Amino acid sequence: MQVQIEKMDLKSLFTFLLLLMPSFCSSQSLTINNIFFTHRKILPKQKSNDNNNNNDVTSYAVIFDAGSSGSRVHVFHFDQNLNLLHIGNEIEFYKKIEPGLSAYADNPEEAAESLIPLLDEAQDIIPPQLQPKTPLRLGATAGLRLLEGDTAERILQAVRDMFRTRSNLNVQSDAVTVIDGTQEGSYMWVALNYLLGNLGNKYSRTVGVVDLGGASVQMAYAISKHAAQNAPLPPDGQDPYIKNVILKETEYNLYVHSYLRYGSDAARAEILNITHNSANPCVLADFDGTYAYSGNEYRAYAPSSGSSFEKCRHIVRKVLKLDAPCPYNKDCTFGGIWSGGGGNGQKNLYVATSFFYMASQTGIVDPNKPNSKVIPADYKVAAKKACNTKYEDAASIYPLITIDRLPYVCMDLTYQYTLLVEGFGIEPWQEITVTQQIEYEDASVDASWPLGSAIEAISSLPKFERLMYFI
Ligand SMILES: *[C@@H]1O[C@H](CO)[C@@H](O)[C@H](O)[C@H]1NC(C)=O
Repeated sequence: MQVQIEKMDLKSLFTFLLLLMPSFCSSQSLTINNIFFTHRKILPKQKSNDNNNNNDVTSYAVIFDAGSSGSRVHVFHFDQNLNLLHIGNEIEFYKKIEPGLSAYADNPEEAAESLIPLLDEAQDIIPPQLQPKTPLRLGATAGLRLLEGDTAERILQAVRDMFRTRSNLNVQSDAVTVIDGTQEGSYMWVALNYLLGNLGNKYSRTVGVVDLGGASVQMAYAISKHAAQNAPLPPDGQDPYIKNVILKETEYNLYVHSYLRYGSDAARAEILNITHNSANPCVLADFDGTYAYSGNEYRAYAPSSGSSFEKCRHIVRKVLKLDAPCPYNKDCTFGGIWSGGGGNGQKNLYVATSFFYMASQTGIVDPNKPNSKVIPADYKVAAKKACNTKYEDAASIYPLITIDRLPYVCMDLTYQYTLLVEGFGIEPWQEITVTQQIEYEDASVDASWPLGSAIEAISSLPKFERLMYFI
């Protein structure tokens, strides 16, 4: 979705830049003129390769996000202070193709070839002399994780080979990988706090994030050093709860957890599996069909009385395993997982992806705004309304929801409300921000993990003296 933000006039943009200055100056002793100059050059929107001087101090990163529904490429352009610069009229270059790599399970070469149009277009943006220094990465998320045997690895190898033969960009040995949920969650935290200008702040002045994807849901927020030192070990086979990352010379202790099978598509399968082949009160009245997920089919039909918020919520509670024993002195979210203990790094919470789609498609927020303030109770109000809807009326009440998701509008909203309030323990009236993009200078930029990955990739270039790295 493209969101038009009114252009700031020159004067207010300069004032804005002046306000930002102290944060640059505190971390780096750079000349103010230099910073000012770099920014001034982007004001008249122009192609970055118009100017050779600019090229000496700027860097690009090309990040592929290989998701289950499609492959996307993001190109970011940074100045020497790691601020984003324009690419043409936008702040990032973004393009998506469908289907995703996992649709080519039988043919890894074809999977790799599907990315060529995106790669060529991304590379064309970058001035030729900068191409060998430009990191190129691909992160595969849930869709590829689910493939059987060595299929995922064979696809990734084909992509690696294609990147090396087809592009002049810098492809490190670890550049093409499956990224796990905690990595995704921490990159997302970095991206969001970067766009909000929080990096370099104390942990208590950063924001937390809950990202509800299709297969998994991630929570990430910064906690105190003391809390991190006392963090418990995760259950067997799971990633550690804490990731330590240095950003702009500040160390952050990130609590990150990824709940596999609790993403919005996966949760539908779990909710339908609880009722097996009998009626399910989360499905809209008069719908009778099946739901396919990850190679399985689930019967989906409503009881004759139709869907019901309270009865659906009862099932969602079971799916969330809210009564699972908590080994951490009551500090659990759900399913016996440590909550991180809360604190100021979580006080300001951003919720993303499916939370954004449902909120913008059911009238909870204005779909044209890149982010909005809500309270979890708004999802409850919307869920109750949805659960009182018949399938045949749903299309006209929810014109923004695609037909395949219409039968599950009550289910999805009830799940999202219950996940927030009973799963993550957020008060129903606590203000949170539902977000897809964050305003950055005169544009809006996607708050998603590829930006965090780009910042990490750029930081490993010698001139940045490792502005971001995990320890
Ligand atoms: C459905 O639930 C049953 C337990 O009631 C479980 O054994 C089975 O693995 C589940 N199936 C799927 C596909 O999730």
